[in-house]
Amino acid sequence: MISLRKPSRGVLYLAALFCFGLLANSAQAQTAAEFQAAVDRAHAKYLGLKEGANADYIPILTETPSDLFGVVIVTREGEIFAAGDVDYKFSIQSVSKPFTAALVMAQQGPEVLREKIGVEPTGLPFNSKMALEIYDERSVNPLVNAGAIAAVSLVQAKSEEDRWNQVLRNISDFAGAELIVLEKVYDSEYTTAFGNRGIANLLYNYGRLYSEPEEALRVYTRQCSIGVSARDLGMMGATLANLGVNPVTDKRVMPAKDVPELLAIMATAGFYDESGQWMYTAGLPAKTGVGGGIVAVVPGRFAVATFSARLNAAGNSVRGMNAIRDIAGELGVGVFGANP
Ligand code: DON
Repeated sequence: MISLRKPSRGVLYLAALFCFGLLANSAQAQTAAEFQAAVDRAHAKYLGLKEGANADYIPILTETPSDLFGVVIVTREGEIFAAGDVDYKFSIQSVSKPFTAALVMAQQGPEVLREKIGVEPTGLPFNSKMALEIYDERSVNPLVNAGAIAAVSLVQAKSEEDRWNQVLRNISDFAGAELIVLEKVYDSEYTTAFGNRGIANLLYNYGRLYSEPEEALRVYTRQCSIGVSARDLGMMGATLANLGVNPVTDKRVMPAKDVPELLAIMATAGFYDESGQWMYTAGLPAKTGVGGGIVAVVPGRFAVATFSARLNAAGNSVRGMNAIRDIAGELGVGVFGANP
């Protein structure tokens, strides 16, 4: 029989230590001054870094001013700490992908996302056609182009217009702003989208696309052409940090229960064939885009977003990666523990 006894002094001591540990841990939460200092330091340190080059396979992206550089932290309470060019509007590109995956999860549940798209990292470039041939799932995960085109096609819609309106509404709700398409980016990308058209048609051929291919391609390309600032991306990330509720508008944008699964995909595939390196060094789920944006999430706490158009060979912003890595290290917020 279990008898309930008065706790011994040892047990009380352990309980006190535990409570102290909890308090000490919550005391580690950064002050506003520490957030601002981290953002300022990262911005100043990498402002002069010229490594990398603008994406040029979408012709208009060569025109993005390469010297612009913005770094921002947005907390789950909606506080903003910014340095540099955080209000310049650039195309969201692949940073949009997890947010449309979130819409599919919200409409049909995470199991449908897993079954109809997949959640494995490819270890291959974002636009790989080979991935479609070597993986049985074909689309592989919603953060590579194939999976993102499939995600758009999975949005439950009555028409192309309805599909597009839902995609835009959802991303705008994450940002807490009325976002619009940068039409010149859309024209430039759609008129040169031969690779993505190939991907959409291959997916359709394999029964892994759920709308007419050209419709999915158009809506996907419009999604990638949405104009955002680093501040917008920070707010979108903060909505994930806040378990799916936008911290400023208070609108629930996705079910809280789906957030961990979405962050898991961002952790394993957010940087494509550099995802391992990224998690090893920064330790944060994140998503990049060839427009120069990155958003990283410290689950339950805050987001760090950056903008700088010069990319490395994997299509990831060089200054952005460096800045987020530094901030994660300085604040000790890697999800597996404080990275050096
Ligand atoms: O489909 C494309 O190629 C672009 N709209 C998006 C690619 C992208 O952003 C890759 N990310 N780093």
